[in-house]
Amino acid sequence: MKKILSGLVVAGAFALALTGCSTPAGGGADDGIITVGFAQTGSESGWRSANTDSMKAAFSEANGFKLVFNAADNKPEAQIAAVRSFINQGVDAIVIAPIVTDGWDDVLKEAQAANIPVILEDRTLSSSDSLYASWVGLDFNREGERAGEWVKQNFDGKAANLVILEGTTGSSAAKDRSAGFTSAIAGTDINVLDSQTGNFTRAEGKTVMEGFLQKYGNTINVLFAQNDDMGLGALDAIKAAGLKPGVDIQIVTIDAVHDGMQALANGEFNYIVECNPLLGEKVAALVKSVLAGTKVDKATIVEDGAFTKDDAIKLLPTRPY
Ligand code: AHR
Repeated sequence: MKKILSGLVVAGAFALALTGCSTPAGGGADDGIITVGFAQTGSESGWRSANTDSMKAAFSEANGFKLVFNAADNKPEAQIAAVRSFINQGVDAIVIAPIVTDGWDDVLKEAQAANIPVILEDRTLSSSDSLYASWVGLDFNREGERAGEWVKQNFDGKAANLVILEGTTGSSAAKDRSAGFTSAIAGTDINVLDSQTGNFTRAEGKTVMEGFLQKYGNTINVLFAQNDDMGLGALDAIKAAGLKPGVDIQIVTIDAVHDGMQALANGEFNYIVECNPLLGEKVAALVKSVLAGTKVDKATIVEDGAFTKDDAIKLLPTRPY
């Protein structure tokens, strides 16, 4: 697709840089098809699968797109290499779900120099916002805060012992959820025994929880897992230790994917803060707007809910992911 940009109102320095560009992109054919390179984090969780499905459905041929998909197995260098390869292929736009916040300046500058707009989805990064056109995602700080508010409400005044399974180190999701959670439990008598990364995966959630149980035995009262998958892995470790999840150790997680909601309905999780993965349509609309030179917001936050056992029982039959 040839970029059609002159004379339109565009948002931010990056979009301005595109104005008047006449170089064909996406292979150069003026076929109306928008070629988009999508640099996904990997396939670490149920949330990620739902997000990938949502993106693939939105960036379909029927919607006028050709999607070049890459999942980087949660390796930041591989994700940056994928973005570089999209630049070399001359795609029309690049979408990134950044694995980590740091290390993006050079490749974003390369995309800008090649007049290829970058749209971020899901996670944020620490580079200047002049290096990307727009971001759509969730308020991770608020998600952590809501999890912390639930812990505070149920455990403050009880000198409870808490352990935390953190997401991928250096990711905005892990950093912001930790910050929001910490601020919500500040000033309480809740004792944080330990906090370690489980990389947002079920396998590592299980391994790290096994370590916590070996170290702290049955003194743990509550677990905050920064996503459902780590919480689900921890369930196995808790049961193997002869303890009852949801009762002996209460569990709050984030995401609300199907398996997490099932654990909540079963009484093995106690509370889930939602993180909505269905961002595809919003991202696709942003890509079209940016390429058309239409003004777009720099940041779009998608609303999340939070669920109890009763909510899970009610919502499970119609939950789309
Ligand atoms: O960035 C969103 C987080 O990434 C989700 O909470 C987690 O499940 C995923 O891997």
